[in-house]
Amino acid sequence: MFQNRRTVFLFLCSIAFVQALYYIITLQIKRNQTIINSGLAISYEHSSDITKTSVQNTVALLNPSIQTELSSFANASFIISHNFIKPDPTIYNSYPICNVSFSNHNLSSTNHNLSSYRVTVSKTIYPFDIIEQHQGEDLYPGGHWFPKTCRTEQRLAIIICYRNRELHLKLYLDNIHSFLKQQQLDYTIFVVNQHGQQPFNRAALFNVGFLEAMKLYSFDCFIFHDVDLLPEDLRNVYKCGEKPRHMSVAVDKFNYRLLYSSLFGGVTAFSLSDFTGANGYPTVYWGWGGEDDDMYLRVTRKLKKTITRYPIEIARYKMIRTFNHTSGKANPDRHTILYSKYDYSQDGINTTNYDLHHVVFYKLFTFINVTLPQESFEHIRLRLNIKLKPPKKKVNVVRKKKV
Ligand code: BGC
Repeated sequence: MFQNRRTVFLFLCSIAFVQALYYIITLQIKRNQTIINSGLAISYEHSSDITKTSVQNTVALLNPSIQTELSSFANASFIISHNFIKPDPTIYNSYPICNVSFSNHNLSSTNHNLSSYRVTVSKTIYPFDIIEQHQGEDLYPGGHWFPKTCRTEQRLAIIICYRNRELHLKLYLDNIHSFLKQQQLDYTIFVVNQHGQQPFNRAALFNVGFLEAMKLYSFDCFIFHDVDLLPEDLRNVYKCGEKPRHMSVAVDKFNYRLLYSSLFGGVTAFSLSDFTGANGYPTVYWGWGGEDDDMYLRVTRKLKKTITRYPIEIARYKMIRTFNHTSGKANPDRHTILYSKYDYSQDGINTTNYDLHHVVFYKLFTFINVTLPQESFEHIRLRLNIKLKPPKKKVNVVRKKKV
């Protein structure tokens, strides 16, 4: 009897052991497949199945904060580990350089061929899996694409600062991929999310995107992009030149007019050397305003360059204005910092401080999730040696009595 029980017990144990072994081996194989696979047949996970699949449970165990962030992009497919694919140099180097025909020089023919340059902006919001069907077929993980029949001269990282604007992001992705593919660019889209309750810091998120992107691929051109701006004209080529470029010159919200001559907000393009030469964006603007004006001053004062722009007929954008988005609170200290003439080498990419939670390679974009530890104005002021102006003395106006 005892002998029998022992045999049954041993039998059950061995079944459980075999099952556990099988589970671990298949899990490992699946994980390796997502990592090794470098072609387009990549086995993605699906964020809506977050509690179902073993791989995602493993991810969730490794990093608890990932679950909430991943589930916020319902139906979006992703992998958790990926090496960016470079075109094979042996074949690629023999290709001709990609030459888009709708370059700036065609401006004179604007009136004749306008319709062929103007982009039809899609304003319907689809779930991520449908956007993936529209745009994702030939994308590499992380929202990476390059032309297959010609050679690009630049590798472009599009860096988007982000917090809780999923509907904007969906519209952005559904429009921007086809726009960039038509321009025959080697590009990758990075969405840098500011996790936590600290005031939004647009400029520091751009620096994070730059630093993290450089760990993944040898980018040499960076376009810093608001998520609510959609380019309208294909001649607005997303490439970097000799000077930093202000891309979003004419926005529909502002009746396609430039608000002021030094405006440098919305969308900007920097070569690698210009961006590092300016020490990147400032990190000291918490809340709305000032950071883009500061970047303009960095270009003129630190880089000693001027900015350039495409003509107003070309650098046109639609701003997505719906979905009840309101800008953050204006930063009351922005003018004090901006006009202080602080030393730009004391703040920028070299002082960008962030806690990196995770990087996830969605099919349509690379998601970088960070917390930015907030620095108080007092601390900023002391660190950058910013002098406060003495308060203006009140002038007592003595009014003459009316006779
Ligand atoms: C702010 C900028 C902003 C611009 C246009 C300026 O006062 O400092 O950050 O882009 O206004 O709205």
